Amino acid sequence: MRILVIGSGAREHAIVTRLLADNTPHAILCAPGNAGIADDVETRSVDAESPTAVLELASQFAADLVVIGPEAPLVAGVADPLRAAGFAVFGPSKAAAALEGSKTFAKDVMSAAGVPTGGATFTHDLDEVRAAMERFGAPYVIKADGLAAGKGVIVTDDAQAALEHAARYLDTGVLVEEFLSGPEVSLFFLSDGERVAPLTPAQDFKRALDDDLGPNTGGMGAYTPLPWLPDDFVDAVRLQVAQPTVDQLRAQGTPFVGLLYCGLIVTPSGTKVIEFNARFGDPETQVVLTRLQGEFAGLLLAAAEGHLDRVPAPTFSEDVAVTVVLASEGYPEKPVTGRRITGLDAATAVPNIHIDHAATATTADGELVSAGGRVLSVVARAATFAEARRLAYQAVANIHLPGSHYRTDIARKVADS
Ligand code: AMP
Ligand code: GLY
Repeated sequence: MRILVIGSGAREHAIVTRLLADNTPHAILCAPGNAGIADDVETRSVDAESPTAVLELASQFAADLVVIGPEAPLVAGVADPLRAAGFAVFGPSKAAAALEGSKTFAKDVMSAAGVPTGGATFTHDLDEVRAAMERFGAPYVIKADGLAAGKGVIVTDDAQAALEHAARYLDTGVLVEEFLSGPEVSLFFLSDGERVAPLTPAQDFKRALDDDLGPNTGGMGAYTPLPWLPDDFVDAVRLQVAQPTVDQLRAQGTPFVGLLYCGLIVTPSGTKVIEFNARFGDPETQVVLTRLQGEFAGLLLAAAEGHLDRVPAPTFSEDVAVTVVLASEGYPEKPVTGRRITGLDAATAVPNIHIDHAATATTADGELVSAGGRVLSVVARAATFAEARRLAYQAVANIHLPGSHYRTDIARKVADS
């Protein structure tokens, strides 16, 4: 199959890596990609958010399947002209991607579909924000309505900080949400617009620092599976969250074809949705795909073509996977980029390790340098969490990037339990 993958992060590197592991060989082009992806497959520069540029590239490449990784191109509507031109596209239309692009749209869909989620008030008015904060009480949860690259949400006991955050995003509107307490779970579903097929639950570590301290980030690490979940968890989320959401979007005339990311909190009063994303999560994808068995491209194509019922349901290996993200100095506030990275050979020499590049580039003289906030995702696979953690951290310790930081507690609790 000729597969065009759009995007440049560790998620796309993980997608490419897993496609290369299929038994059937594929011709893969990733655009724009990064230095790590370019070591594995052909890459091409492209403005990923330009529907016409991506359509031209897909036509030139004669793609059998286009996989759109990040949210920005999806929300910009890159999937629509591709689909109109007859390409099989894994990734929702602009209208369906609003599930991620607009938190109020997502709340409306959940309300219409009867999907459990926290109570919320949407407003452009600071006095209404204040009133909603009083009604819900602390801790306060304030969310910017549009895409904000992981920076739109604040969860804090500090009313002043909550109000300042709200004030910054009033123009586009903010959601004041009920605080939900409990462990977080990311569960992905492939959707063909009508049916859903669950992948395996993962947990992401969103805060920058150990023990869930510091600011929210895109995600500093992840592990899968989640042995502490009840056996019927995946099925319950399929029946109560994913299927009703996909049914509702279809009924509204905006079918969702692609990856439905259910961001969940397991509260004492049941599992509730805190967010939907319209694409694979990063860094959860790096661990989830590591455990995926069978043919990956076949699953993506079946979803893109509306035939998920014709392929076997995704299955996952018995082992576990842990990823630790190495981030630039200053991430998430002000990442310092352009610094030299060394030690990757020693890191990948650690058994059962692979590295997905998140933001790397090669200089004119051939040096590998950092090119963004999250730089590398080190992935370990093992029989136990203790072993996967040991290998992941052994590999991370071999990597040198001046000023970089990573969390030391990824999957620590599950390994100790
Ligand atoms: P989001 O971008 O909506 O996933 O929010 C980022 C992070 O903020 C989540 O991963 C949670 O850790 C936290 N969060 C979001 N909404 C809530 C909520 N209603 N209650 C508690 N924590 C939340
Ligand atoms: N890991 C969180 C996200 O992908 O949005």
